[in-house]
Amino acid sequence: MALNMQVGAVPKMKAKICMVGDSGVGKTSLVRRFVLDYFDDRYIITLGTKVTKKQVLLRETPLGTPMELTLTIWDIMGQESFRELLKEAYFYGANGLLAVIDVTDTGTLLAIDRWIKLARGVAGKVPVHIIVNKVDLQNKITFSSDDVVPIARDLEASISFTSAKTGEKVEDSFEVIASAIVQARFLKGLGLRSRRKTQ
Ligand code: GTP
Repeated sequence: MALNMQVGAVPKMKAKICMVGDSGVGKTSLVRRFVLDYFDDRYIITLGTKVTKKQVLLRETPLGTPMELTLTIWDIMGQESFRELLKEAYFYGANGLLAVIDVTDTGTLLAIDRWIKLARGVAGKVPVHIIVNKVDLQNKITFSSDDVVPIARDLEASISFTSAKTGEKVEDSFEVIASAIVQARFLKGLGLRSRRKTQ
């Protein structure tokens, strides 16, 4: 991850984020909502991987000044066969993970630990933010935050509850992982290890 400092300019940094989570949890919809501010209800299966770029301005950083972070967001097809085939190329050099769960499908919650361990096996112990998606489907919710918190705690991940459909908390979630990446980068520079809280 590169840091580019110019006198008088907002410091700039680049980071690679990988989306992880089972097929159909809403990874592509979340990226589309964040980057294009748009939701499409048709089920479009990701073919392999898709890479998107977006800049975020972080107002509060360890530098004490705002920073501009260019995110390269990698979105992988959630099918297991693909995961095994592409994992090295996909996770190599990742600076952070957005781990997505579908609040209407408990199986996706149970699978998240495996996804994160697989990714960290390639990328190292990078920050993770867990996204519990589809909260607009109120009458189909199958688990509560009490079920997610212990998993997040074990993985030292933060959590947010989103809807790619309404846009609720989507931008926030990308900003949380962006901030965590910047913080980890600075702590690493100082020779410290990040200690993150579960929200
Ligand atoms: P793969 O590419 O197969 O790994 O799936 P994915 O995780 O990228 O899921 P995708 O974004 O394609 O969404 C799957 C389905 O869920 C689509 O029909 C979306 O319209 C729907 N969906 C995604 N997010 C939401 C949400 O927040 N609310 C609702 N109601 N539907 C959603």
